[in-house]
Amino acid sequence: MSAGVAAMAPIPVPPFGSVPFLDLGTTTAVVATEVRVGWEKVIASNRFVGGEEVKTFEDEWAEYCGTEYAVGVGNGTDALVLALRALELGPGDEIIVPANTFVATVEAIVLVGATPRFVDVALDTGLMGAAEVEAAVSDRTRAIIAVHLFGQLTDMDALGRCATQHGLVLIEDAAQAHGATWRGIRAGSFGAVGCFSFYPGKNLGAFGDAGAVVTSDEGIAERIRSMRDHGRPGGAEDRHYNHVRIGTNSRLDTVQAVTLSAKLRHLDHWNADRHRVARLYAEELPSTAVPLRQLEHSHSAYHLMVVRVPDRDRVRAELAALGIGSGIHYPTPCHQLEPYLHWSPGELPNVETLAGQILSLPMYPSLPDTDVLRVCEALSHITADLEPFGDRPGE
Ligand SMILES: Cc1ncc(COP(=O)(O)O)c(C=O)c1O
Repeated sequence: MSAGVAAMAPIPVPPFGSVPFLDLGTTTAVVATEVRVGWEKVIASNRFVGGEEVKTFEDEWAEYCGTEYAVGVGNGTDALVLALRALELGPGDEIIVPANTFVATVEAIVLVGATPRFVDVALDTGLMGAAEVEAAVSDRTRAIIAVHLFGQLTDMDALGRCATQHGLVLIEDAAQAHGATWRGIRAGSFGAVGCFSFYPGKNLGAFGDAGAVVTSDEGIAERIRSMRDHGRPGGAEDRHYNHVRIGTNSRLDTVQAVTLSAKLRHLDHWNADRHRVARLYAEELPSTAVPLRQLEHSHSAYHLMVVRVPDRDRVRAELAALGIGSGIHYPTPCHQLEPYLHWSPGELPNVETLAGQILSLPMYPSLPDTDVLRVCEALSHITADLEPFGDRPGE
């Protein structure tokens, strides 16, 4: 081969195509016909708020979670606010919460007038465990919010023991953990209340905003049912202009209940598909991209596939240049967000370290294996010059 021909040889471009961070198209298509039929019925009935569709979904969701009751509400944030109000948490009460959560968890605490007590998490799982809680308990602490971040439950045996020992109410923010389990028991059924979001991108997502609180306490369920509906009493015939407590308007739309019932039948196999994706990532990722550790008894819902990478911002930019979508959940820990600085306890080393390292890779049930391999190859290529962290916990 002449030198001229060699000079013209193409620069080797890795075989990377574009991979979206999230594609809801396949899961939407699976239920679209059933949902259209259900929505037609709702339209024909001219009953758009409440009704048997909401009751049906609530019953199905309670049964799925292993609780006595589910109360549908407008979104996951309202689920948290109404749960805290039903538990009579408010001014003077301190609530322990991990600082690396979506802001809504903390928003809810502040909205009811309680005090968020931000705590650190384990570096390898990103989760708050009993040890972090123990270190933060004070005589004003009333409750703990366990956030099943990215789909994984923390050690619920230890956390439950810790709550009981200190007389604290355990609340679950299960917005990212539909169907996740600890020792085979589903998220939402460990605490006094479990709060869910059905935002479209969640493992169980509506076609709009929606949420629910699950509980096995009849009184809590009753109060939330009343509060979501302007404080109307349950069961009374003349209830429309009868308001027995201060409530709000946060009802689950009838059309969203129809959508959620249709999708719930697919949730387990969609979660199994997420596991297939996560396993392939765990096998194929380079040593520079460290997946968060999965606890032995925890079966994650893999809402997100989060890895820790050195030089994260450059890596992310280079993935984007190759057409590979990614996310950061979350770039600023809550205790460092401007409106919440007032409650910052100072440094939370693991949360802060993680915020600079975490990268959420494409993850959804129908993500093809070839795309997972493409992401892993891209990461190998991009991070070839970087030193791994030195710890790579397996699945
Ligand atoms: C951990 C967590 N908590 C609460 C929420 C709030 O849910 P929503 O967006 O439905 O209000 C979310 C949603 O993103 C979340 O991820």
